[in-house]
Amino acid sequence: MRTLVKELPEKEGKEAEIIGWVDVRRDHGKLIFIDVRDRSGITQVVFTPKDKELHGQAEKLRSEWVVRVTGNVSKRPAGMENPKVPGGSHEIQATALEILAEAKTPPFDVTSDGREIGEDIRMQYRYLDLRRPRLQKNLRNRAKIVKFIRDFLTDKDFTEIETPVLGRSTPEGARDYLVPARLYPGKFYALPQAPQQYKQLFMVAGLERYFQIARCYRDEDTRGDRQPEFTQLDLEMSFVEREDVMKLNEELLINIVQTLYPEKKIQEIPFPRVSYKEAMEKYGTDRPDMRKDKEDPNLLAFCWVVDFPFFEKTDEGGYTFTHNPFSAPKPEFMKDLLAKKNIPEILTTQYDVALNGWEIGGGSIRNHRPEALEAVLRIIGYENPKENFGHMLTAFEYGAPPHGGIAWGLDRFVMILENEPNIREVIALPKTGDGRDLMTGAPAEVSPKQLKELHIKTEK
Ligand code: AMO
Repeated sequence: MRTLVKELPEKEGKEAEIIGWVDVRRDHGKLIFIDVRDRSGITQVVFTPKDKELHGQAEKLRSEWVVRVTGNVSKRPAGMENPKVPGGSHEIQATALEILAEAKTPPFDVTSDGREIGEDIRMQYRYLDLRRPRLQKNLRNRAKIVKFIRDFLTDKDFTEIETPVLGRSTPEGARDYLVPARLYPGKFYALPQAPQQYKQLFMVAGLERYFQIARCYRDEDTRGDRQPEFTQLDLEMSFVEREDVMKLNEELLINIVQTLYPEKKIQEIPFPRVSYKEAMEKYGTDRPDMRKDKEDPNLLAFCWVVDFPFFEKTDEGGYTFTHNPFSAPKPEFMKDLLAKKNIPEILTTQYDVALNGWEIGGGSIRNHRPEALEAVLRIIGYENPKENFGHMLTAFEYGAPPHGGIAWGLDRFVMILENEPNIREVIALPKTGDGRDLMTGAPAEVSPKQLKELHIKTEK
C-alpha cells in the first residue's frame, strides 16, 4: 500500500512503499541516492550495491521518471535532515524498485523556483512547470482561500449560484469576447465581463444573498495584474447599505489572512478609508499603497477608497461612467441624477478595496429603481436604453429590492498573499503576456467548414 512521503515518520523502522517522480539523482561512489517527489513532499532513497540487480536498475534512473520504491524507513542522521520539506527527516533503504514511466529530459529544471526560466518555454510546457513546488503551493493555497470563502459565505446564508457564460453584449467598460451564433447568422453571444447583471436579477428574484467564484472575460491588453480571463469572488446582497457590504467583506478579508496566513500582519484594522479626492491628492492614485514599510513582504495594508465621481467626460463631449453603470449615486445626489443636472459633481456609492497598491476589489449600491438606472443610461449616451438594457429595466418594474455588492479580483488577492510578482504565477493555465496559450496553441485558425457554418468570412 502506498505511503505518502510526508507520512514516512509514522513508518520509521518499518517497510513502506512510495510512488512519485525522481527529483534528482546523486551517485556517491557505489551508493546511489535519488530524491523522490510526490504531492506531499520529497524524500531520499538509498540504493546500496549489495543487491546487484536492484542497484543496476537504479543506475538507469533519470530525473522525472515515475517510480514505485519499496524499502525500510529510517530517520536521517542528525544534521542530514531537510526540515524544510515534508519527508526530509527520513530516508528509505530500497529493497525493490519499479519503473512506472520513463521521461525525456525536461526542457527546463522543474525543481527550482523557475524564476530564471523564460516565460514562453514555461507556458509551452506548463504541465511540467506546474511540477515545481512553488507553483503547487500557490495552487493549493488558492484552493484553500476559495474553500474558506465558500464556507464563510455559506455560513452567512449566501447561496452559490452559477451564471451563464454565453450572454448578450452590453457595455461594461472593456471590450467583449464575441461568440458567433450558428443558428442566427450575423448575431453573437458575448462572454461575460462580470456576472453583474445576472446577480442583480437574482436580487429581483428574491434570492437576497448570492455569491460565485466566477470566471470573467475581458478583451483588453494583458498586464501583470490582468488576464483576458480571470476569476472574481462575486457577491450581491439585498436590503443593505454601503456599510453592510464593506463590513462583511472586511471581516472576510481579515479572516482569510489571520487563518491561512498567520505570518502576515495587517497594518490597520478597521481598514482605513480615503475619498477618491484625498487619494489622488495625497498619493496620486486611486489605489494607494499605504504600507509604512515597503520592504516587509508580510505587511498587508488594506484600504477602502470611496466617493468616486460617477461620470467622466468622453473625448466626444459626452459622458461615460467611471466604474459601473449599475451603481446608485450617493443618496444626496439622486435628485441631480434624475434631473440629469450637475453631472460632473455627482458622486457614486462605489467602494474600491486596495491592498499594497493594487486594486483587489470594487462594488457599489445599485440603482434598483428603473427611472434611476434609465437616467444613468441616458447620461452615458443611450437614447433608447430599453434596446440594450430592457431586461434590467423591465425586471426592476416588478418589485426590485434595494441591493448592492462587490467583486474581488481573486487572482490579484492570491498573488499578493503569495508574494508573487504577477497573477500568472497563481493561475494554473494562464495566457502569456500577449494573450496566447502556448501549450495548446490558442488562438488558432479554424477550418473553412467551421467558418462557413458560422456564416463568417475572415479578412487576411
Ligand atoms: P471590476 O471591473 O472593478 O468590477 O472588477 C472587480 C475586480 O476584478 C479585478 N479585475 C481583474 N483581475 C484580473 N484581470 C483582469 N483583466 C481584471 N479586471 C478586473 C480587479 C477588480 O477590482 N461587476 C463589478 C463588481 C461589482 O460592482 O459588484 C466589477 O466587475 O481586482
